[in-house]
Amino acid sequence: MDFKLKGKKAFISGSTSGIGLETARILLNEGMTVYVNGRSEKTVKKAVEYLKNEIKGSDVKGIVADFLKQAQVKNLLNSLKDVDILINNVGVYSSTSFFNTPKKTWYDQFQVNVMSGVILTKHFLEGMIARNWGRVIFISSECVYLAPTDLISYSSTKAALHSLSRGIAQLSKGSNVTSNVVVPGSTLSDGAKNYLEIKSKLENVTKNQVEKNFFKDERKTSLTQRFASTSEVAATIAYLCSHHSSSSNGSVVRVDGGSSLGTF
Ligand SMILES: NC(=O)c1ccc[n+]([C@@H]2O[C@H](COP(=O)([O-])OP(=O)(O)OC[C@H]3O[C@@H](n4cnc5c(N)ncnc54)[C@H](OP(=O)(O)O)[C@@H]3O)[C@@H](O)[C@H]2O)c1
Repeated sequence: MDFKLKGKKAFISGSTSGIGLETARILLNEGMTVYVNGRSEKTVKKAVEYLKNEIKGSDVKGIVADFLKQAQVKNLLNSLKDVDILINNVGVYSSTSFFNTPKKTWYDQFQVNVMSGVILTKHFLEGMIARNWGRVIFISSECVYLAPTDLISYSSTKAALHSLSRGIAQLSKGSNVTSNVVVPGSTLSDGAKNYLEIKSKLENVTKNQVEKNFFKDERKTSLTQRFASTSEVAATIAYLCSHHSSSSNGSVVRVDGGSSLGTF
C-alpha cells in the first residue's frame, strides 16, 4: 500500500525509543523527513544513527528538547517552523498510590504529556491549515479507560488528550488536516522489556510466565493477553499519517488488544 508520504516532514516527540522510534522507522521507509526527539544528545544521536543504519539514505534529524525545560522547548520551536505531520508521542508515568503522589508529579506529567502537545500543535497547526494538508496524532493509553489506581495522574493526562485532539479536529473543519488519537495497550517497549527481565529474575520464572501473570492479574480485560509489539502500534500511527486515513478526523483508534472494555 502506498502511503503517499514521500517528501513530507514529521516531528515525533519522545522518539528515541519504543513506539516513537518504530514509527520514525516506518515513516522514513516511506521516504519522509523525520525529526526524532529526546532529552539528551546521547540518546538522540543513538536513535539517529540507528535509523540511518536501518534505512540507508534516509533523511532523519534529531532535536534535543526536554519538555520540562522551557528554554529547550523554545529552541525546538525556533529551529523547526513547520511540519506536515506532528505525532504527540511523548508520555511519562510513575506508578504510585494516589495518596502518595506529590503535586510536582501531577504538574510534571501534565507538562510533558499534555502541554507538549498543546505547545507543539499551536506551533504547527496554522501552517498545516494554510497548506491545506496535515496530520496531528496524539498517543493516549488504555489507562484512559482502565484508570489503574496506581496510575491515576498518568491516566488523567491521557484522558485530557482526547478532548484536546477533538477540539483541534474541530479547528481543522473543511480542510485536509486531521487530528486523531491512538490508544495503545500494554506494549513491549524498553520499559516493559526491563519489567519482564527484572521480574523473571526476582521470581525465578521465565519472561513468558511473567507476561502471562501480568495479563492474568493486572490486565484481566485484555483479549489478546499479551504485550503488543511496538510495530503493531506504529503501523496504526503510520496509517493515520497516510492519505488512506483522510476521512478519519476527531476519532479515537484503539490498539489495545481489546483491553478497554465496552462496545463504543
Ligand atoms: N509502552 C506502553 O506499554 C504504552 C502503553 C500505552 C501508551 N503508551 C504511550 O505511548 C507513548 C510512547 O511510549 P513508549 O513506551 O514507546 O515510550 P518509551 O520507550 O518509554 O520512550 C519514552 C520516550 O520519551 C522521551 N522522553 C521522556 N521524557 C521526556 C521529556 N521530558 N522530554 C522529551 N522527551 C522525553 C524519551 O527520550 P530520552 O530518554 O532520550 O530523553 C523516550 O524517547 C507514550 O505516550 C506512552 O504513554 C505506552
